[in-house]
Amino acid sequence: MLYAFCAYSNNCTCTYVLGAFVLLWVLVWFYRDNLEITKVSEKHVFVTGCDSGFGHLLCKCLDKCGFRVLAGCLTEKGADDLKRATGPFLKTFILDVTSTISIQKALEWTKKEVGDKGLWGLVNNAGRSLPMGPSEWMKIEDFQSTLKVNMTGMIEMTMNFLPLVKKARGRVVNVASVLGRVAANGGGYCVSKFAVESFSDCLRRDIQNFGVNVCIIEPGFFKTQVTSLEPIERELHRLWNQLTPEVKESYGDKYLDKYIKIQRLIMNTICDSDLSKVTNCMEHALLAVHPRTRYSAGWDAKLLWIPLSYMPACVVDIALKLVLPKPAKSV
Ligand SMILES: NC(=O)c1ccc[n+]([C@@H]2O[C@H](COP(=O)([O-])OP(=O)(O)OC[C@H]3O[C@@H](n4cnc5c(N)ncnc54)[C@H](OP(=O)(O)O)[C@@H]3O)[C@@H](O)[C@H]2O)c1
Repeated sequence: MLYAFCAYSNNCTCTYVLGAFVLLWVLVWFYRDNLEITKVSEKHVFVTGCDSGFGHLLCKCLDKCGFRVLAGCLTEKGADDLKRATGPFLKTFILDVTSTISIQKALEWTKKEVGDKGLWGLVNNAGRSLPMGPSEWMKIEDFQSTLKVNMTGMIEMTMNFLPLVKKARGRVVNVASVLGRVAANGGGYCVSKFAVESFSDCLRRDIQNFGVNVCIIEPGFFKTQVTSLEPIERELHRLWNQLTPEVKESYGDKYLDKYIKIQRLIMNTICDSDLSKVTNCMEHALLAVHPRTRYSAGWDAKLLWIPLSYMPACVVDIALKLVLPKPAKSV
């Protein structure tokens, strides 16, 4: 009886101690997570791909926060639109991340802008998604066009701008995707986003002793040009038209239409139009004293893609088999 009572009271004490520890841990985590840096108006942040989508919105938010924003835009029109929507401290520069010369010019311009202070933040946001579709439908050029922007462009920007970020003991913020965690689409996009994840992990581990943080943003599906249905469908038709008669026959006449219908269903069901869910993560990565290593943005990322990424590969295989249409000559 006495033994049972002692065991019971010991169990209770253990539960209380554990509960108190968890509560304390959560409180400390929240406190640390909410600590913000000061002297924002003395800090420069360079963002790539600011013509539209997350990059465009992020520049407007950072400008409002008081950061000195250096916005890399692919087009003059994108730069003009952004300038019209922001204050006098935001500056734009025409940048194509697939061009070494363009990156060099952007670097020289940035050096002049930041002076001795260095660069507080580099946000590698520029990206393209197309073509996306069944892997067998791709030619090597179809992979390369995406990899050149999302992977090589991001790495070349980082390697060139890193000395400036190191000087400011700042941050590199790389925009990956949930498709850098779960390979759900053929083409260069998933390959490139897996590369963003691994490059960022390596860089963070190599550079941590210099006080530079490397953060990875993993958005779910959001309504931007990247997920726009019209170009996705146009590219799927182009891929289909370049297939040999044998490959077309193995998929069957109806496959393309069924595939497009499923893409429409997925995009219309899960794409979120609130882009601020992503830019809030980017802002936290630049403003927090202790930025997080990974940020997942959007309900589909948190509830579907990230949990799926921890599952065995066969679970994802089965899920995709159930969702995608069956080719005519499947075994
Ligand atoms: N939307 C999503 O669901 C989603 C999900 C996960 C990750 N992401 C990633 O988020 C990032 C931003 O995409 P977004 O959704 O905001 O789409 P977006 O509106 O198309 O933004 C991409 C930006 O990159 C620019 N860009 C394209 N090629 C470039 C190049 N060679 N050099 C410099 N800039 C270039 C585009 O310029 P133009 O507009 O002039 O072409 C555009 O401003 C991308 O890395 C994307 O992969 C998006």
